[in-house]
Amino acid sequence: MPQDASPDRYAVIGQPVAHSASPAIHRLFARQFNEPMEYGRIEASPAQFAGTVAAFFAGGGKGLNVTAPHKMAAHDLADKVSMHARVAGSVNTLALGDGGELAGDNTDGTGLIRDLTRNLGIEIRDKRLLVVGAGGAARGVLAALLGEAPRVVVIANRTVDKAIALAHSFEALGPLEAVGLAGVAGQHFDLVINATSASLAGAALALPESVVDGAVAYDRAYSASPGPFLRWADAHGAIAAHQGWGMLVEQAAESFYLWRGVRPYTAEILGLAGELAPTLD
Ligand code: ATR
Repeated sequence: MPQDASPDRYAVIGQPVAHSASPAIHRLFARQFNEPMEYGRIEASPAQFAGTVAAFFAGGGKGLNVTAPHKMAAHDLADKVSMHARVAGSVNTLALGDGGELAGDNTDGTGLIRDLTRNLGIEIRDKRLLVVGAGGAARGVLAALLGEAPRVVVIANRTVDKAIALAHSFEALGPLEAVGLAGVAGQHFDLVINATSASLAGAALALPESVVDGAVAYDRAYSASPGPFLRWADAHGAIAAHQGWGMLVEQAAESFYLWRGVRPYTAEILGLAGELAPTLD
């Protein structure tokens, strides 16, 4: 980069955003390629979101990662969205196109699948999957999971009607069932994914203990140490318990690729959860 050129500006926008590890991850990615970029944090309420995004790009910003609670608003704000974002109904990556249009993508599903299959060596094809939760996080990864051809994906949610509605909207993509949390009693699963926001709040889930017996447990939440869901799974027969740090790193890598056209090496960052992830409990 010429001495006087200012770096390209990126940021993560959310509320709260103070504990996001995305800036640290993207700075490490940028260092791998000596990319001339900086990456910050922007706190914005839902009422401030659209105006803050517009001001960021009007001021020369190149790209944003979008986190809770703005992913659906970002989908509505984008001038065009990718197939992944359309299916998820949400956007976690915004980029300014050559013509000045705002392009929205969603890298969460790809990030989860990369972490499960490449980093953790978990097979999904023909396996029985349980996704707990039917909110935005579940919606964001269902298409990617079904794309791996599992035998079935059971969606279990505290509010069963939301699980039924979610299963209905994805039923064309693969075998789905919807139940309440108690409705999985007696069933066996190979992989149990916690896609609720319960861990973030430090709460336990009212799931039958038997569902994690012999299963791999995966929590979309991440922190410096395993949260309540993974501790519970570990205590009730899970054969492995993984937090979503790898998903965060992999979705970040995919965003970085969309922005910069180079794919970062994630291996060195996957082991840094203890240093970079916030302490939630
Ligand atoms: P996100 O975008 O993070 O997915 P969301 O759309 O508000 O957030 O969805 C939160 C999910 O976590 C929902 O599935 C919610 O269950 P309900 O639909 O019944 O509200 C689930 N959830 C949150 N706290 C929970 C708890 N303590 N026990 C069980 N499920 C919980």
